Amino acid sequence: MFRVRQKLIRRAVVNQTRSRHAYPSKDVRRLFIEYFQNQHDHLFVPSSSVIPQRKGEGTYFTNAGMNQFKPLFLGAVPPGSLMANYKRVVNSQKCIRVGGKHNDLDDVGHDLSHHTFFEMLGNWSFGDYFKRESCKMALELLTDVYKLPRERLYFTYFHGDATLNLPPDIESQTIWLELGIPESQILPFGMKDNFWDMGDTGPCGPCTEIHYDHIGEGGGAKLVNMDSSDVVEIWNLVFMQYNRFEILFLRPLANHHVDTGLGLERLTAVLKGSKSNYDTDLFSPLFETIHDVSN
Ligand code: ALA
Repeated sequence: MFRVRQKLIRRAVVNQTRSRHAYPSKDVRRLFIEYFQNQHDHLFVPSSSVIPQRKGEGTYFTNAGMNQFKPLFLGAVPPGSLMANYKRVVNSQKCIRVGGKHNDLDDVGHDLSHHTFFEMLGNWSFGDYFKRESCKMALELLTDVYKLPRERLYFTYFHGDATLNLPPDIESQTIWLELGIPESQILPFGMKDNFWDMGDTGPCGPCTEIHYDHIGEGGGAKLVNMDSSDVVEIWNLVFMQYNRFEILFLRPLANHHVDTGLGLERLTAVLKGSKSNYDTDLFSPLFETIHDVSN
């Protein structure tokens, strides 16, 4: 396993092209939090434990930033509690995905972007702003603050599902078009890629994802959601509209909410111009120590 990983890392280092906008991971995290706090009035809420605090969460470990906010989506927060005041929130959540609905174990060690333990940057709206504002903020942060080139970004949206009687999310497609994204960079996908649930039951909804093309010669569209290290998903914007009770039974939520997740490790690598998360300061000190200790 160690040798395979070493080989992947060496290959990634050779492949990398240096970016002018590389930041240490702590600055990538800081810029994200400051953008939502200072420019869009979000409250910073610290990461919750990776061990869920409440029983019956539906996951053994915290698998996304939204887990601690589940009662807010379901309208189950006691009035007067601290959470009851949350309208716009930003955070960076420590996540573990080693079982259940979001299990990344089979990908770890086989690609350069999945980990069992990772950090998810996120912004939330609880019954406040919805699709248009969240897409606009995401685009502004990526292109104006982090300075990622627009032409390297691809945007996916939900194409609907007949079995569940769910309509296509034309609204998200239209929003990206209105924000000036060319049609060729906006792509429809189904339940697997563009509908997000926390677990087998609970809050869920269609999502629009932002993918980054490392090659940048205009051929990225065919590699979106193809497990290619050339085009990698960086940000998922979920529009919480339903509560799932059983596999085929979804009930609309009383309010609409936004739940987003941006991979800190992936964005740090992308900003560095590297295809490999292992080639960032989030991993290199660990490898250096392993090298030192093991010679
Ligand atoms: N909850 C969403 C995810 O984990 C943002 O992708």
